[in-house]
Amino acid sequence: MARVRVEATSTQITVEGKTYDTDEWMNAPSSILSSIPRRLHLQPDHPITITRKLIESRFPAPTYQKHNTLFPIVSVAQNFDSLGFPTDHVGRSRNDTYYINKSTVLRTHTSAHQADTFRANTSEGFLISADVYRRDAIDRSHYPIFHQMEGARTWSRSAVPEGTTLARQVWDDLKTIPKHDLVVEDPNPSFHPDRNPLQSDRHSPEEAEAVATHLKRSLEDVVVTIFSAARAAAAAAARGGFSAPTSEPLKVRWVEAYFPFTSPSWELEVFWQNDWLEVLGCGVVQQRLLDSAGVPDRVGWAFGIGLERIAMLLFEIPDIRLFWSRDPRFLDQFRERVDGKITRFKEFSKYPPAPRDVAFWLPKSTAAASTPDSRNEPHSAPNPAGGLAPESASNAPASSTTTNSPSASVSSTSAPPPSTASSSTAATTHPPFHENDLTELVRATAGDLAESVTLIDAFAHPKTGRQSRCYRIVYRSLERTLTSEEVAGLHERIGRELVARWGVELR
Ligand code: DAH
Repeated sequence: MARVRVEATSTQITVEGKTYDTDEWMNAPSSILSSIPRRLHLQPDHPITITRKLIESRFPAPTYQKHNTLFPIVSVAQNFDSLGFPTDHVGRSRNDTYYINKSTVLRTHTSAHQADTFRANTSEGFLISADVYRRDAIDRSHYPIFHQMEGARTWSRSAVPEGTTLARQVWDDLKTIPKHDLVVEDPNPSFHPDRNPLQSDRHSPEEAEAVATHLKRSLEDVVVTIFSAARAAAAAAARGGFSAPTSEPLKVRWVEAYFPFTSPSWELEVFWQNDWLEVLGCGVVQQRLLDSAGVPDRVGWAFGIGLERIAMLLFEIPDIRLFWSRDPRFLDQFRERVDGKITRFKEFSKYPPAPRDVAFWLPKSTAAASTPDSRNEPHSAPNPAGGLAPESASNAPASSTTTNSPSASVSSTSAPPPSTASSSTAATTHPPFHENDLTELVRATAGDLAESVTLIDAFAHPKTGRQSRCYRIVYRSLERTLTSEEVAGLHERIGRELVARWGVELR
């Protein structure tokens, strides 16, 4: 296991020498905290590292400064407030975010470091690559820890030489970005008063147009680099008889989007294997963010991209758990190469899946809170960076800390849930059940042997109104065949815990 010491007294945890007070908001299990030292994006020859370096190669120093070792425990102010997230944003929920205490979280995105990096003001541009953490679904493209890269580029108004304008300087800088022969669909105007507004009190239309063009061209260049490498790898595999290469021109499109910290904003989609695939989110940085960061005279853009999704398509890695494998049959397949060439992953063997269903009645009082919500979308869809979906459906109330079983050395408190919990549940002894609680229970019990958790049935009893749920849990090891006794043991434990923690009745 990792060499981290997650020490806990009843009210504190220590992670890599840093000590934090915990309170009733704490919901970060030790399995998550002990993975902090893995830092896959820094492991030599790891596919996440190779992917990071490929993208970094398009943003040269000294214009772009790289920050790859920022610590993952941040303040709520850094992760949400500094970026203009409304106080009731669903991303702040304890169902979605790991809290250490009321004002401290495991960062949910690399944007958490935007304000500080702008404030440091040590370069015109930056790239931040890091591990990010979210409570979420279990399937082949979701893992509670993944990696993102944040990028930004700003220009200082006060540094614009006499006789020129900021817009003209941005157009000038654009000339250094390599030309490409990508087919780009960009049907919308750069800004739109209702759908995608210009920050008209601070930016002239010419400035926003220039910044948006610089942003889009920079990111199109990234996409050309990534997808050319992916195609070359696919073609090489095809020559080996694996699959057919494609000769169609690469196609991308810009889609209007919304983020609290940019305006106008976009997502970039790439036509890949017959589908539009969202790869990143970006936009013109909100001027109030730059004001608060003490650099009001700077104007520029930012983007965020999820590295797992890119690495999975680059190397054809079929399951996100593989990135965490320590099996040399996985790790030894990847090498950083100076020519940027990618060799595709070869499955070392396939072990059989073991699906098991768990069906239960919810206690009456929690039925309302347990409605499956729509936020268990893939990290990268609808929001490409593994995103905090800007308009996602509102979530169930937060559940009590006891639901997250910070086991072993991390203490669990018996304090009542924070005030965000539904007051209607006050009469019951069990916290309301939320789908992400089951996800986490499965992870805590089965670890990386859990491949997916899917809701397969939900209904209300016609007479009593009681809510029923049935979930299918697929157990599968990537490294060996599981015995049926082993699977039965895990599955029974999960059933027992469901009863003990949420008061459900197994059916
Ligand atoms: N932080 C966003 C997410 O996790 C991604 C993102 C979108 C980053 C737009 C940006 C940006 O810098 O401008 O979904």
